[in-house]
Amino acid sequence: MSETIILAIESSCDESSAAVIENGKIRSNVVATQLIHQKYGGVVPELASRAHQQHIVSVVAEALSLANITKNQLSAIAFTRGPGLLGALLVGTSFAKAMALGLGIPLIDVHHVQAHVLAHFIDEPAPPFPFLCLTVSGGHTQIVLVKDYLDMTIIGQTQDDAVGEAFDKAAKMLELPYPGGPLLDKYAQQGTARFKFPMVEMQGLNYSFSGIKTAFLYFLRDQKKINPAFVEENLLDICASFQQTLVGILLQKLKRAAQEQNIKHIAIAGGVSANSGLRAELNKLGQQLGWTTYIPAFEYCTDNAGMIAMAAHFKYQKGEFCSQAVSPMPRMEW
Ligand code: KG4
Ligand code: ZN
Repeated sequence: MSETIILAIESSCDESSAAVIENGKIRSNVVATQLIHQKYGGVVPELASRAHQQHIVSVVAEALSLANITKNQLSAIAFTRGPGLLGALLVGTSFAKAMALGLGIPLIDVHHVQAHVLAHFIDEPAPPFPFLCLTVSGGHTQIVLVKDYLDMTIIGQTQDDAVGEAFDKAAKMLELPYPGGPLLDKYAQQGTARFKFPMVEMQGLNYSFSGIKTAFLYFLRDQKKINPAFVEENLLDICASFQQTLVGILLQKLKRAAQEQNIKHIAIAGGVSANSGLRAELNKLGQQLGWTTYIPAFEYCTDNAGMIAMAAHFKYQKGEFCSQAVSPMPRMEW
């Protein structure tokens, strides 16, 4: 059997990343995080595109070199087509198109969120089909019914903000530096969840995170009126309380989805799956309910090209290539 070696590029937001996959095994996964956004307290789209332009050549060269592969050995080039920031996606898409054209090899377009789900096939043990995947990132909060590698259905999702956004916005209200989610998590681990926030009841398997964000804002405002030093004096407990509330909302619907679908193989994916509270509570719930749970390694939770490469491997096997006329899709559906 001939070798299948794919180079994959991820540039949807603020991580410039390239990876090489050889016959379904990741050989390299290089991620350059853009620190430029820190001083603005959030991702600045135009700066993200420029940083991708600066990083992409060296990130790709390093991925090939770490995998000990030359570009002439490649079978295909894969890239994130969407969803994401248009200018950022354009850099990865244009680079991938030019490289595939130059080498005369196929192009593979990958859906970023499907790739988060497929990150579960990078390391063993992989979940058997069908399984449920709670996909939680800065832009998405979805419960996905995964029937096959490329056959997935969204059975529940947020009607407004993503849970990662709720983490980041709360962190900003606490004046924590960007990116706030991981830092809020770090503080939460040292605190006690003693403050309560209202949980909004949404229909079916859907979520909403805009209400809790506003509730948090009003909670801080009211407490600061009573004690101006409230945040400094209670930071760890505030973080623990808010995190516990978000994790509770996420798992309540996941539990319901598992019951309705009668599925006991349950996975989480996306940046927020790096959250310590979510990981611990998922395992606890899994033990209670007899689930087998699947949590990706940290390096494959947040944005990385390894997951794009994994998705591309499955598309390559099915001959699902795209044309040179392809353009990025910031609001890509599936
Ligand atoms: O998947 P990802 O890297 O990018 C998107 O596709 O959006 O997810 C980024 C999100 C951010 O909102 C970030 O704050 C959040 O994931 N995140 C976390 C943690 N690590 C990353 N949120 C809570 N706890 C964490 N440990
Ligand atoms: Zn992502």
